Amino acid sequence: PKDLAGERVLVTAGPTREELDPVRYLSNHSSGKMGYAIARAARRRGARVTLVTGPVCLAEPFGVETISVVSAAEMREAVVSRFAAASIVIKAAAVADFRPEARAGSKIKKSAGETVLRLARTGDILAEIGRLKNGQFIAGFAAETDDLGGNAVKKLKEKNLDMIVANDVTREGAGFAVDTNIVTMIFSDGRIEDMPLMDKETLADTILDRIAAMRRQSPNLASG
Ligand code: PMT
Repeated sequence: PKDLAGERVLVTAGPTREELDPVRYLSNHSSGKMGYAIARAARRRGARVTLVTGPVCLAEPFGVETISVVSAAEMREAVVSRFAAASIVIKAAAVADFRPEARAGSKIKKSAGETVLRLARTGDILAEIGRLKNGQFIAGFAAETDDLGGNAVKKLKEKNLDMIVANDVTREGAGFAVDTNIVTMIFSDGRIEDMPLMDKETLADTILDRIAAMRRQSPNLASG
């Protein structure tokens, strides 16, 4: 069904890379598969879709405006500048929480003994758009290795989200760089839905089913 016609969906996907020097960076295992599946499904269902993506090896989805970024700071700029025009935001990207405090201009030389790397925090994009929220539906993801429910509910509340999709990334078939996921969907009204192992394409449509139903109940933003 074209049940997202008229919606403007902003999706983030993939990892960010935080450069240490011209040849090294800090990053994570995100392949972009989860976010790209959501972007494709939203377009199929009639939405106008913008995908902000970190560096991945996936084909640009047909019919989706795709913005490529590298660092968390670039992803923040791309998301915040497009936020006001969006009616639904889904943040599947694995944004780095830390970056090297300083980026060396030339390759850091090996030296005898240990090297200490000083890290600085990156800005939390989801928390920032949660503060800017003006009728948009915001769905975050939570990648957890322990206390899945507790940590995800904390993120849902602290970041002013409508929904959080929590995955325990230590479970086989869930999380980073696989074609499947196992998630718990938690909603701001307190509902919790545990999902079985699903391929990411089916899960993308399931997440959009829930969002479309909630948008029908309270279309608090004029879309189109
Ligand atoms: O890309 P795949 O290989 O398919 O893997 C999918 C996935 C595991 C990356 C995905 O399912 C997932 O869990 N994405 C969120 C990963 C993550 O960064 O989780 P988090 O718990 O650290 O962050 C919580 C939320 O805040 C996320 O929506 C994240 O996009 C957002 N965030 C985090 C840090 C930051 N500086 N800014 C943010 O906006």
